[in-house]
Order: sequence, then structure tokens, then C-alpha cells
Amino acid sequence: MTYTPHPDRYARMTYRRCGATGLKLPAISLGLWHNFGFDTPHQTKRAICQTAFDHGITHFDLANNYGPPPGSAETAFGDILKTDFAGMRDELIISSKAGYHMWNGPYGEWGSRKYLIASCDQSLKRMGLDYVDIFYSHRFDPDTPLEETMMALDHIVRSGRALYVGISSYSTQRTREAHAILKSLGTPCIIHQPSYNILNRWVEADGLKDALKELGMGSIAFVPLAQGLLTNKYLKGIPAGSRATQGKSLSPDIITDEAIASLNALNDLATKRGQTLAQMAIAWVLRNGGITSALIGASRPEQVVDCLGAIANLDFTPEELAAIDKISLERDINLWAKSSSD
Ligand SMILES: NC(=O)c1ccc[n+]([C@@H]2O[C@H](COP(=O)([O-])OP(=O)(O)OC[C@H]3O[C@@H](n4cnc5c(N)ncnc54)[C@H](OP(=O)(O)O)[C@@H]3O)[C@@H](O)[C@H]2O)c1
Repeated sequence: MTYTPHPDRYARMTYRRCGATGLKLPAISLGLWHNFGFDTPHQTKRAICQTAFDHGITHFDLANNYGPPPGSAETAFGDILKTDFAGMRDELIISSKAGYHMWNGPYGEWGSRKYLIASCDQSLKRMGLDYVDIFYSHRFDPDTPLEETMMALDHIVRSGRALYVGISSYSTQRTREAHAILKSLGTPCIIHQPSYNILNRWVEADGLKDALKELGMGSIAFVPLAQGLLTNKYLKGIPAGSRATQGKSLSPDIITDEAIASLNALNDLATKRGQTLAQMAIAWVLRNGGITSALIGASRPEQVVDCLGAIANLDFTPEELAAIDKISLERDINLWAKSSSD
């Protein structure tokens, strides 16, 4: 069926300036890490993207390796661009990244110029695009000079493959270095994509949030729902079909009785605020404007709609924040800790 976007979509969303740039991002963005591979029906993928866009989500985040298999999320999104979003390219912010393993041999991962430029070309081909809006270095490469990685990003912009560049899971120190190199090259580093949620606060401990503000960089927090932990999904245990049952990135081992009790206590707090747990978790990430956009994932369109409800109340009282801090002991869920400590 032909898709017609909702006429009120832009009134339904709040847009926030990405650091000191001219680019505005929706307060909530959609990521295609999971649920966009060959193991998900194409109709479901289309429905999730359509629902997102109908509610003003203009930003879709991809990476070379999203699937399974790697690359298939970009291929699926390329199809959706042709069918549902045809003629709407100028209304969309599409990002991709390179850094993790994508093909065999010495040129298929990390941060060399060889890998980044080849991977960007592959991503553009899979999506059928002339350019992406944002291209990221997906992780810091300790074995490649940072200058080389940043010069590759600069080249990607100058050659018209991307409009803006960013970095993901870089430590505060490496972020400062990357920002300075890109500034000297004349291509600003406009955005950092870190993991951040109530249960994983490394961006605060590392001083990254403050540094981004000082540098005029924007930020987009991935896994704001801790891969689904911070939703109503696991309040009674591990339901069939959930990510924790799929042998992917969310280990069922961390969903202990003690963790479930703590999630239920957070859920009670959310209920008192008139929010679902997912809504409170997203509002917490976006509180005080410290983060530009919350980058969610979804396996069903209804989840996107629930998450969007967060925008109605992004304010917390000091008492609410203290209560959240007391309940939510930081958990060992940061799969990206190694990258951000190199
Ligand atoms: N830069 C990086 O290194 C990096 C790494 C990881 C992710 N990311 C980006 O961040 C995006 C989001 O990651 P994520 O999917 O792990 O984020 P998330 O938003 O923390 O978790 C999404 C999962 O939570 C569940 N969920 C979402 N909304 C729900 C709701 N309202 N009620 C109940 N359950 C709900 C769904 O789980 P079920 O599938 O179980 O239903 C969904 O798949 C990725 O797509 C990617 O773009 C970037």
C-alpha cells in the first residue's frame, strides 16, 4: 500500500539543536541495530519506520554492520527509502558508521582511511544514497593514528559522501583530540554517540557530557532503554521473543530477581509521574537538555508510540532524581566500555 506521511508530524515532535550547529535533531531518533535484519519481516520494518516518521522522527541511525547479516539493515532501509520515503530525502537525517568488523582481511574494521572510505561507499550503495547526513567513526582505534581516522572523516565530507561527521563511544580525552583535529581540518565534529541510560552513566563519570557542552558538540544517547530493561518488558521475568531470549546483545544472566525488583521499583516511580517506565527512562536521558536526542530501538510500531510519550514530561524534581539514583545501582551492561576507555 502507498504510504502517505501524517500531515501533523512536525507538530508532534520537539526538535533540538545539535550542539552549536545549525542541524536540529528530533528529541527521539530511531536506530536500526536490531529488528531490521533478514530475521524480521519487511512489513514490520516498514511499519516501524512509517510510525516513527508519522510522529516527527526524522532521524534514522544505521551502521555498516547492522543486521543480521551485517549490511542487511542498510539494504532494508534502502528499500524503504525507495517505496515509502521516495521524494522525502530532504526531510530525513540518515546516519551510518564504520568501525566494527565488516569484512575479512586487514581492511575490514577499525579506523584506517582505507576501511572508512570503502565502508562508507558500501553503505551508500546498500541504501541507494548519494550521501548520508552524518557519518561516524564507530569506535576509537588504538592502533591507527587519530589524525588518519579524522582525515578520512574530513575527506568523506569534502568528497560529498556525508554532510556532517561524528564519533561514537570515544572517551572524553579522545573526543577532545578528535574535535581539535577535525577543527584544524575545517570539518567540525558535530556529534558524539555514546551509550547512556539510568543503569549506565559512564558519560557522567568520564566528564563527557560536560566536555561536549564546552566543545559545542551535540549528542545522541544510544540504548536509552538499556536494550529493553528499562521498559515494562522484564517486570515479571523474561518474556518469550524478547531480545534477552535471542542470544544477541542482551544476556539473560543479568536479569536476576534482584534486577527485576529494582526495575519494578523504577516502574512504580514512573507510574507516580504518569509515565511508563520506557517514557521515564527516555525523559531521564533528555533531562535539562544535556543530551540532544535519545536513540531508541523498537521491535513493534506500538513501542515507538509508547516511547514518544516521554516528550510530554522531561522535567524531574530533585526528589524524583534522588529516588531514581537510590534504586538504580549501575549495572554491568555497558558493552562498549572497552572502546570508551582506550
Ligand atoms: N554507536 C554504537 O556503538 C551503538 C551501539 C548500540 C546501539 N546503537 C544505536 O542505538 C539504537 C538503539 O539501540 P537499542 O535498540 O539497544 O535501544 P533501546 O531503546 O535501549 O532498546 C530497544 C529495545 O527495547 C524494547 N522496547 C523499546 N520500546 C519499548 C516499549 N515502549 N515497551 C517495551 N519494550 C520496548 C524492544 O525490545 P524487544 O526487541 O525485546 O521488543 C527494543 O528492541 C540502535 O538501533 C543503534 O542505532 C549504537
